[in-house]
Amino acid sequence: MKQSLYRYTSLTSGCNDICVVVDNMSEAIEFPQLDTDRLVLRELALDDIDVIFPHFANEEVVRYEDCRPVVNVKDVTDIIEWGRNMANSKAGILWGIFRKGDGAFLGQVNYVARPDNNFVGTVHRAEIGFDLTPHYWGNGYMQEAISRVVEFIFNDTEINRIEAIVHTENSRSLNVLARLGFHKEGILREYVKWEGEYWDMVSLAMLKRDRVT
Ligand SMILES: CC(C)(COP(=O)(O)OP(=O)(O)OC[C@H]1O[C@@H](n2cnc3c(N)ncnc32)[C@H](O)[C@@H]1OP(=O)(O)O)[C@@H](O)C(=O)NCCC(=O)NCCS
Repeated sequence: MKQSLYRYTSLTSGCNDICVVVDNMSEAIEFPQLDTDRLVLRELALDDIDVIFPHFANEEVVRYEDCRPVVNVKDVTDIIEWGRNMANSKAGILWGIFRKGDGAFLGQVNYVARPDNNFVGTVHRAEIGFDLTPHYWGNGYMQEAISRVVEFIFNDTEINRIEAIVHTENSRSLNVLARLGFHKEGILREYVKWEGEYWDMVSLAMLKRDRVT
């Protein structure tokens, strides 16, 4: 069955992390599993807890993110539930990244739709987040995963602008996004406050019309 267009209508506005959305489509939409040459991007399930726990417990994975490593199973189920709730409410999608062949869990990639600031409009922006277990860095897996997610977002949703907000010292992430053609738009000064410190963040974005075809 052809994937239906994901359509968002914002019920809120402003710089709010919580995006309330409704789906205009009447039919149910299946979780969009995606394939690349080497990867399967699929929904995380409770059965995956044993393999994903060490990933989110790894200090290196969250080093440039304003969150702590997970410490117990509840923390991991919260992440799975967050992804499931986002998908169900069409507020975004979180994909687990699994390697074809051996089925190894490599990490995750997600996007969260962001409401426009016009009180009525549809949602045309989304922010992506992503991480890989350090053991799998240096193989081009994330570039491959994000590239497929970008294709999905621009082909199967009404989103026109994909944003990434990255710590200024997170050079690996900045390199991946640069290779994919994201444009560096500027520095968001003291954008994040985490554990008593303000972090400057780099704002990057790709527009639908930026895509190299
Ligand atoms: C961000 C992160 C996913 C990047 O990982 P990464 O391994 O550098 O990125 P990729 O998987 O795309 O791999 C790219 C590297 O693989 C190399 N590579 C090897 N084989 C490749 C192939 N077949 N195709 C493309 N690149 C390949 C590239 O040359 C590149 O190496 P380089 O950066 O030394 O030049 C990883 O550092 C991470 O998870 N960090 C912690 C979480 C985080 O900060 N997330 C972002 C928050 S905004």
